[in-house]
Amino acid sequence: MAVIHDTTTYDHDGAISNTTGMQAADSLETTTMPDATIFPPKEKYSFLDDYSEGAHPQVLEALIASNATQETGYGNDRYSAAARQHIRDHLGRGDVGIFFVPSGTSANAISIAACLRPHEAVIAASSGHIVTRETGAVEASGHKIINVAPSNGKLTPASIEKALDDNWHYPHMAKPRLVYISNATEVGTVYSKAELTAIKALCEERGLLLFMDGARIGAALTSGVNDMTPGDIVDLTDIFWIGGTKNGALLGEAVVVKHAQLAQDFEFYVKQHGSLLAKGRMMGVQFAELFRGDLYFELARRGNVAAEKLSRSIAGAGYALRADTETNQVFAVLPLGLVKELQRDFSFYVWEKCGADWAVVRLLTTWATDTAQLEKFNQTVLSWGAP
Ligand SMILES: Cc1ncc(COP(=O)(O)O)c(C=O)c1O
Repeated sequence: MAVIHDTTTYDHDGAISNTTGMQAADSLETTTMPDATIFPPKEKYSFLDDYSEGAHPQVLEALIASNATQETGYGNDRYSAAARQHIRDHLGRGDVGIFFVPSGTSANAISIAACLRPHEAVIAASSGHIVTRETGAVEASGHKIINVAPSNGKLTPASIEKALDDNWHYPHMAKPRLVYISNATEVGTVYSKAELTAIKALCEERGLLLFMDGARIGAALTSGVNDMTPGDIVDLTDIFWIGGTKNGALLGEAVVVKHAQLAQDFEFYVKQHGSLLAKGRMMGVQFAELFRGDLYFELARRGNVAAEKLSRSIAGAGYALRADTETNQVFAVLPLGLVKELQRDFSFYVWEKCGADWAVVRLLTTWATDTAQLEKFNQTVLSWGAP
């Protein structure tokens, strides 16, 4: 029997529920499924997420141009082969396995299942997407997630060591074997090379594999504060994925597996999780287009630039940011009156209540963010006046 939660609303990427902290903001419009997400009101411009638009026109044109060709199924088509080659060229590594899967949750669930034996666990920040927004997909494969407190959205060697120290009683506790991190993180921050190097060193010392969720890896690698190359990500992880869905593709993610033993049987896991698409060409065509030149990175850069404009303007008007704007996510602390005013023309998530009169809002930008709408948003903030 279906259970209907009539006072609680959810979204795909983290909208707040009416029952968890927003009661005092009852008069505010909260985002509800399905209407606001599937059919955003036409008169409102959306800063809700980075998958509101379809594909970049070049990607669509490539799909149309490829449409009439006959291709072998299940990722053995010519486009997927070309896409793998282009990605390997960007990574500077010819020896990595590359597997296309349709969604971020499948990329995470498959990768984690492939890395772990039944008694093994994954360490993740409590803010990590696998912890907060994937409906227990990891737990459904029988694996425990060991949660640790994030620091600016990130894990640190100290937090990982603490997780190891807290989970020592073998065989009575699940054995930590994998570390999950996201880059960019769920608060839009970016790992530095020194931070990732330190985590990788600890993982090697303690026999842990390192997995990076790259839903927004394009945004991370084109961030103004980034000091890593795509090749560094290969060197400093065992397995990671490159998000297409949030950066110009209609859908699809590319999982890059450096660890040879993992790569060997990875496709079996993809198939068992229902993610080996007969028309795998759909992802091959898109990734080939995004990676045959620099399109993937150009698009990510555009999203970051738009976020920077929003963030500068909000900070310039005197409002605080909840996290540094390093990629395409802006977390701003605004008075409820201004939030309500902005909600007349824009949709975005009211992320968290902040005292009686303030809220943190999350604003997401993309390659397709409309500059005129962005200016209009900034103008509304400026007109409201300083706090
Ligand atoms: C960091 C991160 N990982 C994974 C996902 C999951 O992607 P999907 O919704 O395609 O399953 C998301 C989606 O928002 C995400 O933000």
